[in-house]
Amino acid sequence: MATDPHTSRGSGVSAVIVLAAGGGTRMKSRTSKLLHRVAGRPMLSYAVQAAGALEPDSLVVVVGHEREQVQAHLAEVAPDVSIAVQEHQNGTGDAVRAGLSVLPDDLSGAVVVTYGDVPMLSGATLTELVAAHVADSNAVTILTALVDDPTGYGRVVRSGGALERIVEQRDASPDEAAIREINSGIYVFDAATLREGLAGLTADNAQGELYLTDVIGFAVGAGRRVGAHRTDDAWQTEGVNDRVQLARMSAEMNRRICEHWMREGVTIADPATTWIEDDVTLEPDVTLLPGTQLLGATSIATGAVVGPDTTLRDVEVGEDARVIRTHGELAVIGPNTDVGPWARLRPGTELGTGGKIGTFVETKNARIGAGSKVPHLTYCGDAILGEGVNVGAGTIFANYDGSHKSTTHLGDDVFIGSNSVLVAPVDVADGAFVAAGSAITRDVPAGALGVARSHLHVSNGWVARTRPGTKADQSAAAHEGGIHPAVQASRDVLEADAAKSAESGH
Ligand code: UD1
Ligand code: CA
Repeated sequence: MATDPHTSRGSGVSAVIVLAAGGGTRMKSRTSKLLHRVAGRPMLSYAVQAAGALEPDSLVVVVGHEREQVQAHLAEVAPDVSIAVQEHQNGTGDAVRAGLSVLPDDLSGAVVVTYGDVPMLSGATLTELVAAHVADSNAVTILTALVDDPTGYGRVVRSGGALERIVEQRDASPDEAAIREINSGIYVFDAATLREGLAGLTADNAQGELYLTDVIGFAVGAGRRVGAHRTDDAWQTEGVNDRVQLARMSAEMNRRICEHWMREGVTIADPATTWIEDDVTLEPDVTLLPGTQLLGATSIATGAVVGPDTTLRDVEVGEDARVIRTHGELAVIGPNTDVGPWARLRPGTELGTGGKIGTFVETKNARIGAGSKVPHLTYCGDAILGEGVNVGAGTIFANYDGSHKSTTHLGDDVFIGSNSVLVAPVDVADGAFVAAGSAITRDVPAGALGVARSHLHVSNGWVARTRPGTKADQSAAAHEGGIHPAVQASRDVLEADAAKSAESGH
């Protein structure tokens, strides 16, 4: 353990102070900049996560602008952090003063300062920064990066290789402005040096603010060791100030997330049009086709193929499922299932093993049992389906009577004919059939056939009597009421097929 009071104790980090009081006016938003999302998570949550990786004794977030929103978010994601309020945004030095004000006056050891709007910064990089600080027994260690365009950043001024001070863009001479090594604004300070340096700050600069960066000049002047830890990954030092930077940052974050999953065995046909949020989990041998967005806590099991053009939020996809052109939210898609194309799965949808939710089907709060199929043009809301059910094309589960929602139960191996309406609450029990075109308003018992439609009345010769000489009449006369030859041919084919499968037992 070091004995010099001006160096870190060499043990853990005493405190991390996350600066998050700034206005973010360039976002032109009613939402705090720090709550704008990158890869599905508010920017501030990344800062808190990276800081947490250091396991500091205290974690302080300095809030100011839109602080109600920011505090509400913190209460949700990180209830243990301390909040310090910076009333007026008088600069980064003033913000750190505010942060220290909620910590013990005699705080010692390493104090890390980071920003709330630098989402790519990782806990690993902070850990390296602290390790360098400790290894070199520094009083201050700055995270720096070499960038092609240093515009806007504080420049790292060195003399004979040794770090001398940081100069802000607006205070820089032309020579200084040409320096490409930038101050990330992320530092480790020895607590005593930080306190002393902050005490001496003046607003004698182009912005009339208290610059935290002047603490570096102070430490150098006082003969304390000041070092720089340069990162090769400049993205980790990039802040987000406007929506152009937000989009750039999001694209880079997504590129990294896609790369991560590809290295874990996921096939991504087109990473440029595939968006995967930070909390998504994927298994090896998942295939993602172009235009797929996986959001929230979505998880996809091995062998599943998702896309093209599919958006899933908080959806669990089972092994070997195929999900095509689908919009899903808060749903569970079982193993070996088929979903889409053009399916909409609303919250509470659960599709059992081997089941199907097909084309132009909307489901909501629907438990669909193993092997059950809802293949075409159906609204299936507030429904419990057993196993092996077949729901015909165009079936509507009428779940809403204008004031109440009710549930439809279909037992195992139920068959619902096409274009039926199931008026809930209603129960079609095991093995029952519903005839096509029926409006079912009462329960159908097990093994029964429910038919609810008017009988077909055929009035022969009606066209000839009521609209003689029309095209319809002429066509009818040509076939003299017989079946069209093409229709007869197709019936013959179907009959032959049926006979063949009866023979082979299928
Ligand atoms: C600061 C650094 C600069 C560095 C750059 C990196 C100073 C004087 N300059 O410049 O050397 O290259 O960051 O991005 O420190 N904040 C507060 N309260 C304030 C002012 C700022 O909480 O009164 C917070 C902001 O919310 C932001 C961070 O501090 O998260 C940085 O503030 P900003 O004004 O963007 O600093 P820069 O001028 O960019
Ligand atoms: Ca900034």
